[in-house]
Amino acid sequence: EAAEKGGYEHFMMKEIHEQPKAVKDTLNSYIKGEGEQKVIDLADVGLGEEEIKEIEQIYVVACGSAWHVGMASQYVIEDLADIPVRVELASEFRYRKLPVNGKGLVIIVSQSGETADSLEALRLAKQKGLKTLAIVNVVGSSIAREADHVMYTFAGPEIAVATTKAYSTQLICGYLLAVQFAKVRGLIDDEKYDYYLEELLALPEKIEKILSDKERIQWFASKFSNAHDIFFIGRGLDYAISLEGSLKMKEISYIHSEAYAAGELKHGTISLIENGTLLIGVLTQKQLYEKTVSNMTECKSRGAYLMGLTTYGHYEIEDHADFVVYIPKADEHFAGSLAVIPLQLLGYYTSVAKGLDVDKPRNLAKSVTVE
Ligand code: G6P
Repeated sequence: EAAEKGGYEHFMMKEIHEQPKAVKDTLNSYIKGEGEQKVIDLADVGLGEEEIKEIEQIYVVACGSAWHVGMASQYVIEDLADIPVRVELASEFRYRKLPVNGKGLVIIVSQSGETADSLEALRLAKQKGLKTLAIVNVVGSSIAREADHVMYTFAGPEIAVATTKAYSTQLICGYLLAVQFAKVRGLIDDEKYDYYLEELLALPEKIEKILSDKERIQWFASKFSNAHDIFFIGRGLDYAISLEGSLKMKEISYIHSEAYAAGELKHGTISLIENGTLLIGVLTQKQLYEKTVSNMTECKSRGAYLMGLTTYGHYEIEDHADFVVYIPKADEHFAGSLAVIPLQLLGYYTSVAKGLDVDKPRNLAKSVTVE
């Protein structure tokens, strides 16, 4: 097993470090051509231009981290491609009546391709006559076999129960669909299209850069490893990333954590803030930055210890936050791919500091094939 871990102490850390390559492999599988001739090629997925133009509604259906990918993709697809997106937990979607109006596309996201609820949701969507597209990592899995269209993630086998590289490659698929849908539907010109492709292709190197500075996060994690509660807040895409950061934390460190849409804090959760409670603000969206900072300072005045996660350049955050992690600049639609990395590391190092079984957390399974 030590050989399989490639020199890392745990599979999770190995997989965290495989993300630049996994993201690059996924991008290179769908972006074809050279220089300004680069295009997103969905021929292998089998989604034609006419089909893309006809979509009136998208449902993203998934469980766990894959559902968080749906939450993030929702913002990107709606913003770029102007198609309404609903994100549904597979275990809820299955039991809904789901009135179908117009032409809908159901996107099922699943690393394993075997999650029972996601598979049943796929079958229900097909029964309703909806077109289905699966974003799946495992070739030949049940969901891949049954969906009308399959977009594979190229993460390679993932062993650690807490997903990292599969999540990151699923996000990439969401971005690729958003950009391509926007292009086909005439919402972005060639210049903007080339810009988005360049921004996407620049992500692996930026992820690498974040990974090269992981010791700071290790230090911070050991400082808070005895915490009882941790809160993650953000707005818009930053909320979607907060959800994933919080899940990573609770899955493997057994610290209670919650992700909250920053504006909702004052409708309840703020009553849980005590002296020393760690509150992590995710701040990659310029337009929402000030608002979330103001929610963070409200918590600080109630005793919270603030960690800010933002892009280089927002140095004024140091006037408010007690600890800051910076990520490289990127187009805001794709910034989640960078912001999630320090949060994965934070969960990992907290679990290690507590001496827990990082790769096989209690009560959890890699693939949930029961309902
Ligand atoms: C389990 C795993 C999660 C995963 C979820 C969905 O709970 O521990 O990491 O996100 O299942 O799995 P899937 O294979 O459908 O992506």
